[in-house]
Amino acid sequence: MKGSHAYASMPIDALYRWFAGEADPTSPVWGALCRWIAGDEALCARLDALPGGKRQPNLFLAALRYHGAPTLEGGPAFAAWVDAHWDALRATILARFTQTNEPGRCAVLAPILASLPQPIALLEVGASAGLCLIPDRYRYRQPWGDVIATGATVAPASCRPAGRSGLVLDCAMTGRPPGNPADLVIAHRAGLDAHPLAAADPGDARWLRALVWPGEHAREARLATALQIAASDPPPVRTGRLPEDLDAFLAEGLAAAEAAGATPVLMHSATLAYLPRDERDAVVETIGASGVRWLSFEGPSVVTSLRGRLPDDPRPHFIAALDGEPVARCSPHGGWADWLDGVPVGAPDPR
Ligand SMILES: C[S@@+](CC[C@H](N)C(=O)[O-])C[C@H]1O[C@@H](n2cnc3c(N)ncnc32)[C@H](O)[C@@H]1O
Repeated sequence: MKGSHAYASMPIDALYRWFAGEADPTSPVWGALCRWIAGDEALCARLDALPGGKRQPNLFLAALRYHGAPTLEGGPAFAAWVDAHWDALRATILARFTQTNEPGRCAVLAPILASLPQPIALLEVGASAGLCLIPDRYRYRQPWGDVIATGATVAPASCRPAGRSGLVLDCAMTGRPPGNPADLVIAHRAGLDAHPLAAADPGDARWLRALVWPGEHAREARLATALQIAASDPPPVRTGRLPEDLDAFLAEGLAAAEAAGATPVLMHSATLAYLPRDERDAVVETIGASGVRWLSFEGPSVVTSLRGRLPDDPRPHFIAALDGEPVARCSPHGGWADWLDGVPVGAPDPR
């Protein structure tokens, strides 16, 4: 991911050309459109005038979907539509943020959470709409073919189990996951985000759907189902910024964990990259000093202490780590995971 300074400072045509390359593998529609935008001087001038990090291509592209652009193909019809709708597009770009919430990541997060002493007090920073805060409301198709329903949650109403979840998460795995999501019991959950979204809010749900790139049909379907599940019993996500609000968030989470007799886990996924390096390091230090278990799911160079810990891999990937130790190399959206200490898939389950 480009840092916000690059979005602010890179020449706009180069920014869109770079983004085209990023989008090409999963969204040729965005790839082609970004290349066209890079060559259209009038549109480039408009996008260039957006303030700082708001020049980020993902924001303009999501705004197009959010406002129902009738064509996503570059050309005169597209340019005319953008012209006619620029005020609305600009207002959305200024008001909204890139905060893609990907429940697919739970396919990697849930087995790790399930490997810890249960129940769990799950604390997520950068939670967006909280779709990764409810891994116990999804089901998991494990590599040996089982669909595992998660365990019953305990106590507070906000933690009610959703019964047989409508969302089954698939993950192609090598090695054996460290825990079985069926064992996962969440006694307390809380999220913090600079700009929390609510799954039950139609505008927020529409924005989250708009952030998915055209052509990523499996993600669209997964998100729609997860939004329904979350809207039926919203996970609590409150407003707060890293690093300054982390201490208070951790203190509340630790108190709730103690009251529930639960293992406190601080989790973040696809979030620390939004912070400058010194703030990321400060966040990690605060987590380490707090006594919580620490589950991170970030790009390979995002967490300073994890940089260079695994051999290079040409695939776009994230590293899932527990207490600063890599547990899995995995796809950024949870579609595959190579468990690092597992035994080969297909070996008998000792449990
Ligand atoms: C890409 S989303 C990831 C959401 C979720 N963790 C997931 O994996 O699906 C990153 C989230 O981090 C939040 N965020 C970014 N910088 C933040 C900060 N300094 N403090 C709190 N939240 C922040 C954004 O608002 C956004 O909702």
